[in-house]
Amino acid sequence: MSKDVYILSIETSCDETSAAITKNGREVLSNIIYSQIEIHKKFGGVVPEVASRNHLEKISYIVDSALEKADLTFDDLSAVAVTKGPGLVGALLVGISYAKALSYSLNIPLIGVNHMKGHICANYIEHDIKPPFVSMITSGGHTQLVHVKSYYDYEILGSTRDDAVGEAFDKVARTLGLPYPGGPYIDKLAKEGKETIDFPRIYLDKESLDFSFSGIKSAVLNYINNQKQKNIEIVKEDVAASFQKAVTEVIVKKTLMALERTNVKTLALAGGVAANSGLRKEFLDHLPKDINFVYPSIKLCTDNAAMIGCAAYYEYVANNFSDMSLNAIPNLKL
Ligand code: KG4
Ligand code: ZN
Repeated sequence: MSKDVYILSIETSCDETSAAITKNGREVLSNIIYSQIEIHKKFGGVVPEVASRNHLEKISYIVDSALEKADLTFDDLSAVAVTKGPGLVGALLVGISYAKALSYSLNIPLIGVNHMKGHICANYIEHDIKPPFVSMITSGGHTQLVHVKSYYDYEILGSTRDDAVGEAFDKVARTLGLPYPGGPYIDKLAKEGKETIDFPRIYLDKESLDFSFSGIKSAVLNYINNQKQKNIEIVKEDVAASFQKAVTEVIVKKTLMALERTNVKTLALAGGVAANSGLRKEFLDHLPKDINFVYPSIKLCTDNAAMIGCAAYYEYVANNFSDMSLNAIPNLKL
């Protein structure tokens, strides 16, 4: 019988300090997440330097907690994995330096993981799916439609040409005076509102699977300014519901096109905005019955180390290891 593979994974690409222990890829023994959101809230967004400092302060404690929760020690580990990009360079470097030190001192392999692959792999933790499938990644920094052909072959079918979808949620939320990050607040308000405002659906050219979200953000801003000038009270709930509907309608239509083009029967959502209840509903209302539709639970949608550990397992079995020259790659592509 082959030996169990225990991976310690570390994620510090943005404003979550997280460490996890995964067993044989998909089994999560612990997934400790320390969110810095409360610290960045007062600045209205993530301050990179502040993020790095907080990762540094917390990382030892978070890694120790992950081991303790999993009831393991450093000696039980098969490998150490870490997010190498995309993300904030200073924040990434905290995790990378820590992982390198562990790999060197414990004499175990080091695995650098692409954060976007991690988001996709979050689906493996709770669902028994395997490639090929289509993944729609909607996060704070990225919007991509991906054909996952195998664990190692990712074809990007479409990307955003300007803002990421999470960014659009956060900017619209800010315009409505909601706290950072605004996505969950928009989600909540939208449930209480009506889709009465006809915000534009931006499809670009008909055949394209690319996205553009800067136009809708401006449209919301213009609407709010217009109403203010006319002294008409803004119904925030309706703005949230109408904005969310316009965005999710475009995402769902393009994803349906991607499924048709690839002739793939499994769809996996990924990234922070996959937590959006309106997006999930829009998919459930429009997906053909023969599509196996999965998405991670909310905790696994947003940044966490378990998804990095899960992605790392497939690199581990393929002997795709990193060496001590591993560096942060802020703009790393899939
Ligand atoms: O994937 P993620 O944790 O970080 C990145 O890698 O970017 O995504 C964070 C984004 C933020 O923009 C946040 O507002 C958004 O995900 N988000 C949501 C919801 N929960 C988180 N957006 C809409 N509805 C939600 N329920
Ligand atoms: Zn992320």
